[in-house]
Parts: sequence; C-alpha cells; structure tokens
Amino acid sequence: MAGVSTGAYRLLARRFGAALVYTEMISSHGVVQDSQRTIALLSFTPDERPLAIQLFGANPEVMHRAAAIVSEFAPDLIDLNLGCPVRKVVTRNGGAAILKDLGLAREVISAAVAGSRVPVTVKLRSGWDEQTKIYIEAGQVAQEAGASAIALHARTRSGLYGGKADWDDIRRLKEAVSIPVIGNGDITCGEDARRMIDQTGCDAVMVGRAAMGNPWIFREINHFLETGRTLPPPPPEEKAALIREHARLLEIAHGEHRAILMMRGVLSRYSRGWIGGAELRRKMVRMETGDDLTALLDQYLALNNQSAATEH
Ligand SMILES: Cc1cc2nc3c(=O)[nH]c(=O)nc-3n(C[C@H](O)[C@H](O)[C@H](O)COP(=O)(O)O)c2cc1C
Repeated sequence: MAGVSTGAYRLLARRFGAALVYTEMISSHGVVQDSQRTIALLSFTPDERPLAIQLFGANPEVMHRAAAIVSEFAPDLIDLNLGCPVRKVVTRNGGAAILKDLGLAREVISAAVAGSRVPVTVKLRSGWDEQTKIYIEAGQVAQEAGASAIALHARTRSGLYGGKADWDDIRRLKEAVSIPVIGNGDITCGEDARRMIDQTGCDAVMVGRAAMGNPWIFREINHFLETGRTLPPPPPEEKAALIREHARLLEIAHGEHRAILMMRGVLSRYSRGWIGGAELRRKMVRMETGDDLTALLDQYLALNNQSAATEH
C-alpha cells in the first residue's frame, strides 16, 4: 500500500503472520528510467519474504523491461496493479483505467510475464463502474495471459472506498477461473476473513485499511481461522514496544531524522482509538527527535494504563 507498506511495516506484518506482503505500488516507467526514488522502493530484506513487488503501468513494452529489471531483485512474485483508482495513476492509463481496455490489459500482463523470471499475479477492481463490471472477463484475460493468481478488490473504480465491497464478485470470479483467487475488501477481523472464505471459496484473503497501524491483525486472523476464537487486542505495553521497533526499523533504513518524520504519519495510524489520541496526535505532528517519540509513548502508556486500572 502506497505510503504504508514500507520495509519496516512489511517485516512487522510478516512477524505477525501475514503469509505474503507487497511493496508499495511502483511505476513501471520509473523502474525503466532508473529513477533513484523508484529503485529505492524495490529493495527489501530476506526476512520480509515471501514478498511481491507491485508494478503499475499501461505500456506493454515498458512493462516488459520493468519486469525484467525487477526480476533482478529476486522478489517471490511480481504483482500488477490494474485496480488503482487514484487520479494521478488513472489519467496515465495505469491502475483501474486498464479495466476499460481489456485488449491492452492482456498485452500488459503478457509483456510482464514474458519479461519476468518470477510468477506474475494481478490485482483488479470489479470494474470501472457499477454498470460495467468486467472482473470476470478481466480475470479470464489475466489467466490466459499467464497470471499465476488474481486478487480482486470487490469494488468498482467509481466506488472508490465507499459502500460495501460485494463479496459475490469474488465468488463469481473464483468460479470462472482456475488460478488462485485472493479476496479483498472490508476485512477487519478474523471473523470477516472466515466469512469471506466461506462465502466466496477464495484461496486467500488480503487486508488493506484494517492493517494500517495494526500489524497484529494478521495474528488475530490466523488465530481465528485456526481456533474460531477472537484474540483480545494487544495491551498498551505491547503496542508501545512495537511502535519503538517500527521506528528502529525505519531508522536503520532511513536515518534518525527521516525516520522520526515518517513516524509522524505511522503513529497517527497506530493511535486510532487511543485514549487521549487527539491530544497525542497534536504532539505527534511536531515530533523531531527520538526523545520526542519516547516522551509521547510514555504519555500514551500513562493515559491508557491509568484508564485500564480504573476499569478493573
Ligand atoms: C492509503 C492506501 C494506499 C493503498 N495503496 C495501494 C497500492 O499501492 N496498491 C494496491 O494494490 N492497493 C492499494 N490500496 C488498496 C488496498 O490494497 C485495498 O485493495 C483496499 O483498501 C480495499 O481493501 P480493504 O477494504 O481491506 O481496505 C491502498 C489503499 C489505501 C487506503
């Protein structure tokens, strides 16, 4: 996820049991042009495996070259994002715009498969809008073009993130193709994952927004799928320790100052639902040093443990 699934986050997600992690989406043009910023997004550490590098783009020749370059980084998979609704990506004909032209989609996927030395998977939305849902045709095109699996975010492009994902789309896609289908849309807990698997027959579930600032969700989902029971949320101490670890991992990759600036956004996601969250968020956006982060986490622990003590 753009701005979210950094190396630090991916490592934490893997530690909590995510079966597969993805890089942020990366421009195939950026890869081919050897842009420093783009190449930095391609690196990962062995502990993050299995890992997919996600590419977007709508030019088959560029995609072919990008897939070959990305293969040198030896990811476990290359994933093509044909589902991104963001205007900047769509207007360049990347992301969900390809859903309007399945001939082009076929060429882009075939080109990636031909250029890649690892399996290529595809991520789709259900269609461009509710009137033109083409995920079944798009899924079949992806399969014929050599994709090894399809992840379906069961919303249309014009649906952006509103309304409910229509899990029936996932079920119908699963019935229409023989390669694995990964279901995506509105999973917020283990119980949701169980329901999606039961209702759709999908081979795996993908978690988006509910994993932001919440890498524990993977442990919770695995536990529910194995036992049918819900794990309690982690206690404040565990959360604070993990946030420190997240900052440490970012510091290794980016240096202290940049890491703290990145932690402003990261912490705002971890702090959803915290007691005193609004006040802490005001401080968060001004953090400059590791000491500021420590002081903030101490305050979080004081506020949240105090309240846990009064509840008992
Ligand atoms: C901030 C943000 C960034 C995202 N970045 C990407 C991305 O880079 N690639 C991608 O395939 N999907 C991306 N998505 C979409 C999610 O992967 C997912 O398909 C969508 O949020 C629906 O799943 P959910 O209901 O579990 O959130 C992003 C979503 C959000 C909210």
